[in-house]
Amino acid sequence: MAGRLVAFPTETVYGLGADARNPDAVKRIYEVKGRPADHPLIVHISSINQVEKWAIEIPDYAIALARNFWPGPMTLIFKRSAIVKDFITGGQETVGLRIPSDPIALALISEFEKISDSAIAAPSANRFGHVSPTSAPAVSSELSEYLGYGDLILDGGACYVGVESTIIDCTGKHPHILRPGAITGEMIVECTGSKFVFEANNNESSGIRVSGSLKNHYSPLATVLLDELPIVGQGFIALANVPTPEGVVRLASPINDEEFARVLYASLRAADESGLTHVVVVQPQGAGIAIAIRDRLRRSANGR
Ligand code: TXA
Ligand code: MG
Repeated sequence: MAGRLVAFPTETVYGLGADARNPDAVKRIYEVKGRPADHPLIVHISSINQVEKWAIEIPDYAIALARNFWPGPMTLIFKRSAIVKDFITGGQETVGLRIPSDPIALALISEFEKISDSAIAAPSANRFGHVSPTSAPAVSSELSEYLGYGDLILDGGACYVGVESTIIDCTGKHPHILRPGAITGEMIVECTGSKFVFEANNNESSGIRVSGSLKNHYSPLATVLLDELPIVGQGFIALANVPTPEGVVRLASPINDEEFARVLYASLRAADESGLTHVVVVQPQGAGIAIAIRDRLRRSANGR
């Protein structure tokens, strides 16, 4: 990558990657995203063998999680090793690690590890505060005016999961969910046998900065309204069994919660592309990935 940026597909959302040991390259991620420098980046690795290079003090429950859910939509937070510098962690003593399952992502990361003795630091490939991109054209519309000569966007089609990875703080006695995602609290309890999985609603309780947990994030230009009556001439997103009132612009009719997650961000983008000013969303109820969907919707409804 030689100091360049590579946007790449993962099963969750597209990432904007750089050499995790190159401060100048990582600095460009922050410039391209317009993101404050104190927000930490996830280091993407290709195999469990790489964990001890980037992290120390790995608890048994985290090994169980890694074995069960990696490669996959899960990020684990550990105490950082000496090679993880402040420009990755925003000055924090912890580092986030993830092994994505998308084959293009895995190939990119493992090839890069072979030639560099490094890994790929990557946030979601959107401008700060905006909706994460779940396709290559969405990355391009977010970032092309900020990317430079030699930067790349790899096109791996639409992301399969559609919402960002579950972030689990593994620095305590028990796993602690900092951001809900496709790996749910139930799955974590079942895998680790840990009784106590705290669901954090915000970043204040843990003292750890998680930019995705800011109150207003994941926001389109259009105003997102939750569980309100559909508005004639405006956007509407709901499960397929909810009918569309006349004159309302139906943006998505997913048949289940997994499909809801997969199409949500593309539907919010479509609202902006069609110049809609409002999108009403009927939130999916219940557990599973619906928890992550409601988490993102609540934040996008807070506006930019
Ligand atoms: O699914 C994902 O996680 C995607 C794909 C590209 O891997 N990445 C992603 O990155 O969503 P980003 O930077 O948009 O969101 C990652 C979140 C940020 O809110 C960041 O603050 C948090 O992870 N994070 C990263 N390292 C952390 C750390 N050491 N401690 C606490 N939070 C951390
Ligand atoms: Mg993000």
